[in-house]
Amino acid sequence: MQTDISPRSHPIDAVQAPLPPGPRGLPLLGSVLDFGRDPLGFLSTTARTYGDVARVAVTGGAFHLLAHPEQIEDVLVSRNRNFPKENIELLRNSTDYLLFGLGLLTSNGAFWLRQRRLAQPAFHRQRIAGYSRAMVAHTERMLNGWQDGQRIDAHSAMMDLTLHIVAETLFGASESVDAHEVGAALGVVMDVSAAELGQPIQIPVNIPTPSNLRFKRAVARLDNVIARLIAERRAASDTAERADLLAMLMAARDEDGSAMSDKQLRDEAVTLFLAGHETTALALSWTFLLLSRNPQARERLEQELDRVLAGRTPMLEDLPQLSYTGLVLKESMRIYPPAWILSPRVSAADTTIGGYRTPAGTQLVISPWVTQRDPRWFAEPERFIPERWEDGLEQRLPRFAYFPFGGGPRQCIGQSFALMEATLILATIAARYRLEPLPGRTITPQPAITLRPVEGLHVTLQKRPEAQPYSSIHQATAS
Ligand code: HEM
Repeated sequence: MQTDISPRSHPIDAVQAPLPPGPRGLPLLGSVLDFGRDPLGFLSTTARTYGDVARVAVTGGAFHLLAHPEQIEDVLVSRNRNFPKENIELLRNSTDYLLFGLGLLTSNGAFWLRQRRLAQPAFHRQRIAGYSRAMVAHTERMLNGWQDGQRIDAHSAMMDLTLHIVAETLFGASESVDAHEVGAALGVVMDVSAAELGQPIQIPVNIPTPSNLRFKRAVARLDNVIARLIAERRAASDTAERADLLAMLMAARDEDGSAMSDKQLRDEAVTLFLAGHETTALALSWTFLLLSRNPQARERLEQELDRVLAGRTPMLEDLPQLSYTGLVLKESMRIYPPAWILSPRVSAADTTIGGYRTPAGTQLVISPWVTQRDPRWFAEPERFIPERWEDGLEQRLPRFAYFPFGGGPRQCIGQSFALMEATLILATIAARYRLEPLPGRTITPQPAITLRPVEGLHVTLQKRPEAQPYSSIHQATAS
């Protein structure tokens, strides 16, 4: 166990400081039912009512909710080694472990660092630049199947699209991935994980409850997809020439010369496969919803796209000119952060955070949803105003007032990949279509591992009349 040596926390304070205030909740159960009923509302209300550090009693213990950028930075950056992600013993019984195993998202310490260094080259700037053509080509192919007036579930379309992009760019296999299979399995995984939030007691994943069994079947379907990708690669004759992420993971050798075990390869691949497409699809879905509700922002976006692209498809070189497109995405991820809550961090030793006692083992909850909607940092926080980011707002804000990709050593490895991908996709689609949600349906965010539109995003496609004649430079690569 690590000792806290930071000047922010004196050993005596760690014992004598008061525990943070928080809701009383019910005997034994604490606030677990309130949290489960409406996790987003509960966390926001708790932070506004009890302050920047709040203690929430739940079955069998308590977690501390950290809402202020300063304490978030303290935990994620300044003293990050004192606040690791949940340890393996706790994780082992969870559905997260069954799904991700010990991949990059869930592992810790020296093991995590080694795996992170191994995967990092796939995300270097130049590598990512090389993915841009595939991103636009897949988007074009999707648009070729769209028609004016057609009704679609835009969220499921975005999931298919980003899945194929990640499969091709990182795993070198787009055709062999069955998007329908992955989508269905992922739907079950998210439903079960959303339901878990409201359960007073977390039932270990190896107990065969109906929901655990459903979860296991869904994970088995995902495992099959990944196993096929790996098997195909092993059988391929050109393996030596491939330089994608899968090739790097497969070629990695320990100091003693041994390769990654099949299980470890599976864990890393599942993690990157899922983390690498679902979040970006969500960012796009929420963006289309917000644009449909904010016609002025949508018009300004379209003007930029018409001016910069003049009817052709976007390229990597256009990104610096697509500044408003970038702000639209930025503002959308503020209001609907796809990763609405970070993986819980755990205090490794008795300490204080923000002046409050934090006993060893306390779970620390950090939520972009809560902090990014705090009126201290964002005026009218629920309004979608991409313009708020003009004039250097970000430089004036504390670093962790806005953190859709987390921060510190565990910051999202795919941030640049995702931003480039989302900008290119949004530009390609919004230049040609408006997505109008079907009237009479409310679209509710479901907080599971990620923040999903609970019943998808059903829209009518409206071809833009003012779109210029369309010229494609990428179609040849989209076969
Ligand atoms: C809009 C899209 C995305 C969002 C909002 C997002 C958000 C995040 C956040 C908040 C974390 C930190 C979690 C924590 O600290 O508990 C994270 C970690 C991670 N993300 Fe992303 N992500 C996105 C796209 C991607 C993409 C495209 C990839 C891969 C291709 C990816 C792979 C990962 C991985 C592997 C981690 C774990 C990193 C580590 O702990 O070393 N993400 N992501």
